[in-house]
Amino acid sequence: MTALTLSTAAAPGLRADAIVIGVAKGAGSSSGDLVVAPGGEAVEAAYDGRLADVLETLGASGAEGEVTKLPAPSGFKAPLVLAVGLGAEPGEDAEYGAEALRRAAGAAARALAGAQKAGFALPVADAAGVGAVGEGALLGAYAFTTYKDTGGNGGAKNGKAPLAEAVLLGAKPRDKAHKAAVERAVAVAEELNRARDLVNMPPNDLNPQAFAAIAQAAAKEHGLKVQVLDEKALAKGGYGGILGVGSGSASAPRLVKLSYTHSKAAKHLAFVGKGITYDSGGISLKPAGHNETMKCDMSGAAAVFAAVVTAARLNLEVNVTGWLALAENMPSGSATRPGDVLRMYSGKTVEVLNTDAEGRLVLADALWAASEENPDAIVDVATLTGAMVLALGTRTFGIMANDDAFRGAIQEVAEEVGEDAWPMPLPEHLRKGMDSATADIANMGERMGGGLVAGLFLREFVGEGITWAHLDIAGPAFNEQGPFGYTPKGGTGSGVRTLVRLAELTAAGDLG
Ligand code: BES
Ligand code: MN
Ligand code: ZN
Repeated sequence: MTALTLSTAAAPGLRADAIVIGVAKGAGSSSGDLVVAPGGEAVEAAYDGRLADVLETLGASGAEGEVTKLPAPSGFKAPLVLAVGLGAEPGEDAEYGAEALRRAAGAAARALAGAQKAGFALPVADAAGVGAVGEGALLGAYAFTTYKDTGGNGGAKNGKAPLAEAVLLGAKPRDKAHKAAVERAVAVAEELNRARDLVNMPPNDLNPQAFAAIAQAAAKEHGLKVQVLDEKALAKGGYGGILGVGSGSASAPRLVKLSYTHSKAAKHLAFVGKGITYDSGGISLKPAGHNETMKCDMSGAAAVFAAVVTAARLNLEVNVTGWLALAENMPSGSATRPGDVLRMYSGKTVEVLNTDAEGRLVLADALWAASEENPDAIVDVATLTGAMVLALGTRTFGIMANDDAFRGAIQEVAEEVGEDAWPMPLPEHLRKGMDSATADIANMGERMGGGLVAGLFLREFVGEGITWAHLDIAGPAFNEQGPFGYTPKGGTGSGVRTLVRLAELTAAGDLG
């Protein structure tokens, strides 16, 4: 991954491939005009104060994500200046926001793919700004190149290697808060990028066993406790939901439990992730056009995995248990049929009316297992319904919960870390649509409000009295459009930063 370093060098003296500066749409008297953001002073001075004019001549406007390249002025060791748009300049006495910095750093880092080293001279006012630029650069530089040849053809034909080193200028290498912000940015970005890798990995290589093995290796590396239930253990334990979903596949399902504990922890969080390594729909097969990206159906489990490892790397004073419900949903002679009844881990029976509503079945078992430990709160993360994508679009995840305050807190946390999220209700009247003539509940209900129906189903498998929230990340988990800000095409790592921040705030006693 891209390395992140701090330097006290002035921009002209940095030996690098490029110097990144910020530009914005001016506020106040320069309203609408392009302005050079703090950090770009040295470049501006070398251009005799004409930098804004030069950039406007090149077509720059300061719009968010806009990238303009120009030759560095004489006296600079780097050959290139890259001006990245920050959007609107903040009003008087206000600073550039963390998300604007993250996005700008991300867009710049992505535009520098193939380069060795770039200096980031963006407007960082404090440690939070340092963290934001660092995180944005590391996330924006990400590229999934495992299956591409980045060595030959000068990288022209296949993938370009990501920017090798991002140097933060204007940060103080000896300042404790600045150093901590960089360390946090590196841990979050490395683990989030690892989650992206897992999502992008083709499903013929990432099956439930492979995912479980990766979790075991990470647990060893970071001193986590890990327990993997294979198909035999799942059968012995009565995990009918996970087994029922996995029964059609040649790759057997797994339930992975990852535990991070801190000796001074006062609280215990449980994170539960949907880990369908490929969702064909099963016997209720998805038509062509709906299955090409379904390797992304383990994004929830990838987010949970990344969050637990990050909590460990940051040594947070909170206990965090991650549950990865891993299965491949395939049609075959041994697959669950529409009409089958599964006996779930909780003891409830479920009539499977549609084998494509599989996520709620694996989550139900994992939620019940998580509930047995009576954690202070459970948060599940899942690419659960197409209905949520229709409702909120492709960049926003829905939050449902059995506790209004907890749902609100998660929305605030998401906003703080730069994830778009919106609260969704769990209307009681939708429950009766899942009444089954044969079993305790059916895995399908009314089509209208399908995302909320799924949430209501999950709620039935949360232990009595436990605070629970459900994040439906079906929209933002996988970006099928072009990259933007620090978000690449493909796996995005949706949910990771919200879970990590939730753990941090819980550790600090600022939540619940
Ligand atoms: N994995 C899908 C949901 C999904 C859709 C994720 C689009 C990402 C992008 C899920 O398992 C599914 O198939 N849900 C069905 C439920 C229905 C059969 C009740 C859906 O949303 O159509
Ligand atoms: Mn499905
Ligand atoms: Zn699915």
